[in-house]
Amino acid sequence: MNRVYFVGAGPGDPDLITLRGAAVLGGCRAVFTFAPLDQTFAGLINGRPVYDPYDFDFEDLLVRVDELLESGDVVFLQPGDLTFFSPFQALIENLGDKVEVVPGVGSANAASALLKRTLNLSGVCTRTILVSSRALAEVPGAPSLEELAKPGATLLIYMNHYPLAELVSRLRSGYGRNEPIALAHRIGLPGQKLFLGTLDDILDRAGDCELFDQKGRADLTLFIVGEALTAKPDQDWWDQRRQKVRRQRG
Ligand SMILES: C[S@@+](CC[C@H](N)C(=O)[O-])C[C@H]1O[C@@H](n2cnc3c(N)ncnc32)[C@H](O)[C@@H]1O
Repeated sequence: MNRVYFVGAGPGDPDLITLRGAAVLGGCRAVFTFAPLDQTFAGLINGRPVYDPYDFDFEDLLVRVDELLESGDVVFLQPGDLTFFSPFQALIENLGDKVEVVPGVGSANAASALLKRTLNLSGVCTRTILVSSRALAEVPGAPSLEELAKPGATLLIYMNHYPLAELVSRLRSGYGRNEPIALAHRIGLPGQKLFLGTLDDILDRAGDCELFDQKGRADLTLFIVGEALTAKPDQDWWDQRRQKVRRQRG
């Protein structure tokens, strides 16, 4: 039976797809994806037909996928992977047993690598919260960004829809103090930029960064806020952990 693969592309750099993802992409009949992945993965797509899933309404998309399945496997190449904020869940439910999901490097993983920081530094951070500012603002009864932005929390903000000055002001009011912030813009893509600063100076540091595309939609930027970004790790923690591990091993 031919299959529909939902392949995690990673942040955009084709070197960051998994071996399984690359193999599936290399053997498929057609690819559904969108910019910029259609360009950065052009080598692996290698001339196969590429469709933008947003060119189809839901029913037509299912019909088109079924037609393509008659002559081979179909790949949905998605940013990061399915784990967070994927638009494809309803499609996956509908396609049922035909689906296989191939994990990938999420933008959170890629940002952590770029920063060379673990995002829940022990002893500093008690929680890491992944949010979409837009979803918080749209869903009645959801906590506000200000309510989630508290000392001890690392916030990962996807799909930010606020101008940077407004985002910073909301975070300042939530944390109630200055906090480190990083803007990881277009990770693994042409134009990649990483801005590091604090809520007090990030506007000056990132002033010229284009966070919204020409249509006013949030461009590819992941915002990371919280002490875990800069706090000095406690070196004693390593020895305490090592002792514990050795006790457990007997
Ligand atoms: C619809 S979500 C998809 C997230 C994806 N499933 C993941 O885990 O990376 C799109 C948001 O992910 C973040 N994102 C995805 N790719 C990115 C990249 N290459 N650089 C920076 N942020 C990225 C941005 O916050 C963007 O608004």
